[in-house]
Amino acid sequence: MSIRRIVTVVGARPQFVKAAAVSRAFAKFNETCGKQFDERIVHTGQHYDENMSKVFFDELNIPRPHVNLEVGSGSHGAQTGSMLEELEQVFQDVQPDCVLIYGDTNSTLAGALAAVKLHIPVAHVEAGLRSFNRKMPEEINRIVADSISSLLLCPTNTAVRHLASEGVTSGVHNVGDVMYDSVLFNTSLAEQSSDILDRLGLEPGSFYLSTIHRAENTDDPSRLAGILDAFAQIEMPIVLPLHPRTRKTLGVGLDRIGGNIRTIEPVPYLDMLMLEKSSRMILTDSGGVQKEAYWFSLPCVTLRDETEWVELVDAGCNRIVGADTRAILGAIAEFEANGLPADRPPDLYGDGHSAGKIVAILNEFLQTAGAN
Ligand code: UD1
Ligand code: UDP
Repeated sequence: MSIRRIVTVVGARPQFVKAAAVSRAFAKFNETCGKQFDERIVHTGQHYDENMSKVFFDELNIPRPHVNLEVGSGSHGAQTGSMLEELEQVFQDVQPDCVLIYGDTNSTLAGALAAVKLHIPVAHVEAGLRSFNRKMPEEINRIVADSISSLLLCPTNTAVRHLASEGVTSGVHNVGDVMYDSVLFNTSLAEQSSDILDRLGLEPGSFYLSTIHRAENTDDPSRLAGILDAFAQIEMPIVLPLHPRTRKTLGVGLDRIGGNIRTIEPVPYLDMLMLEKSSRMILTDSGGVQKEAYWFSLPCVTLRDETEWVELVDAGCNRIVGADTRAILGAIAEFEANGLPADRPPDLYGDGHSAGKIVAILNEFLQTAGAN
């Protein structure tokens, strides 16, 4: 049987974390079964600052991209359009048997669209998530990507149910969450190698960790003010690695935010794991960081009006507070008083072997496709 060629399309920070786990699983499969997969990583260049991109490839040993399209930032149409044009060319040159996409960014959408129009099957990791808020660019990206993917690799049964309710049942698998694989693999490495706590002079358990980058918060001054006002009223130090989007929005206003808020540059993944693990609570509008809070048994206050990760809310581990100052303060006070429910389920997102399952499913899918 000939070697199967996979093109993995990534472009944004969370996709590097997810793809690292699956690339490792491809390498392991090849080691065990003889070379079966030739994975080529295509970086769209959506994220390009060294601390938003290169550090992840270096630290997580992600294979060097076959090509970096360097599309950079832009409006949704311009950014996605450039990616589409460039990806089409790459797919025509490389002729992959399958294109692997992750999550819900513009890189995800462009990868799916460019592939399906060339009749290349698409496998979507993190399929089936829904916020039911169509104003979120990510929601549109997910719906379109799911509707044209051949393999829908879901992290939860909730995601499987969402797809079923849209009439999608073929090619659907619950494989668990690859980000859990990543946390399990990297936490001890972080403990051994990260000196972020020393560098920032932080004691474990003595600070909250926050991230804010969601368009609905950064592009709405009243929401951003609602969040920062709440933060300023908290005595606990808050460490806030600033996404470049948020840094740009805050601009000159940065020096006006509360004295307990410590803004730092975006941190590499191992430092981030160390900060998460050592914090007392997480306040975030990130998707991935909500789950990382759960894996580190930390309360999470979500600075959004809804979440795709509803299991966390049902389990009492996560409170959805939007950008309302009082609601944020109330949720923090409640978690400080009561902590996390002792009876929270331990395995909401699978068993940490998601990447291996994805590779096994791809193997079977491509064998069947090759036989037909
Ligand atoms: C993107 C994803 C979002 C994901 C996030 C992860 C879309 C629509 N959104 O949002 O789902 O949660 O990545 O972090 O795909 N910028 C830089 N340097 C960089 C990257 C971005 O300065 O390396 C600045 C630019 O001003 C840019 C802005 O950040 O315009 C937004 O970047 P973009 O990639 O468009 O969206 P994110 O907010 O990062
Ligand atoms: N992350 C990181 N450094 C940071 C902020 C986040 O390594 O300064 C990691 C985080 O631990 C998680 C991923 O980036 O694994 C989440 O990315 P992000 O919040 O940008 O995107 P989202 O998950 O919301 O799409």
